[in-house]
Amino acid sequence: MAVQKYVSNKMKYNKVLLKDPWLSSYVPKTLWFSVTALEDMLKAYPVVFIKPNSNHKGNQIIRVKSTPQQWAQFREKSFYELRYSYKEDVKTCSLKEVMKEVVNEINPNKKYIVQQGIDLATFDGSPFDLRILMHKPGERWQISGWLARVAKKDQIVTNHIRGAKVLPLDQALKDNGHVNIVDLTMKLGDLAQRISLALGSYFDLRILALDMAVDNDGNLWFIEMNSSPMFRKMFKELKNKEMYANIISTRNYILKKYKRTHPKKKVK
Ligand SMILES: Nc1ncnc2c1ncn2[C@@H]1O[C@H](COP(=O)(O)OP(=O)(O)O)[C@@H](O)[C@H]1O
Ligand SMILES: [Mg+2]
Repeated sequence: MAVQKYVSNKMKYNKVLLKDPWLSSYVPKTLWFSVTALEDMLKAYPVVFIKPNSNHKGNQIIRVKSTPQQWAQFREKSFYELRYSYKEDVKTCSLKEVMKEVVNEINPNKKYIVQQGIDLATFDGSPFDLRILMHKPGERWQISGWLARVAKKDQIVTNHIRGAKVLPLDQALKDNGHVNIVDLTMKLGDLAQRISLALGSYFDLRILALDMAVDNDGNLWFIEMNSSPMFRKMFKELKNKEMYANIISTRNYILKKYKRTHPKKKVK
């Protein structure tokens, strides 16, 4: 068994989680992108995200937000706001124009998904999500590190490479006014374990990072998993150096222990 298989297919690992009725409630509704799917999703949710199925680093993501009903009545044509992870433009337009714009923006050679937008909790007015680094050094998955990523001002994604600021998890959750922070953190830990177990039993993984979120009502959500996660820069930014040291030592242990069983090595 190889130490790690690279998986970059948002729809595929969503499907793995959807097989488990309990886990499925933490996965935002996701469809393959098509004009019809986008139209249906905009009828169902006030915010939707359009994302490449296999990209990462917050590339090529578009957010479409419905204008609140009372405004829409007065501004017949301006029902939707469009924002992008890769440029600063903001557009306000009708449904027909949304479709035209999105089709124009996306790469016709790539597969995209359209996903229910989560109303991310905020820190200092900017949305944040949670990066959880999971390792499986033996039989069990463990949480080696976690932190919050606060989006750069006016950015729709919380990727570190797109300017997000890193905070200790409890600091971000506390500031958001979640009184029962202990309870929420325990739930998050339990959920991360269950998700890793499900994904790890399907894919060949010992290292993975989960992008999770807490919404403004305190509900937890799974956004995506990364099988080849970036972690160095963001975990190094934390004042507490213990977490980073733990990540490095567990990661090195895994890479050393399981490298020997790599099929390519056996042939030699
Ligand atoms: N459904 C969503 N609702 C709210 N925010 C989202 C949603 N999907 C993505 N985002 C934001 O965009 C970021 C990047 O999305 P993600 O699916 O992790 O793609 P990537 O592979 O490019 O990192 C997330 O970390 C989050 O901040
Ligand atoms: Mg991500």
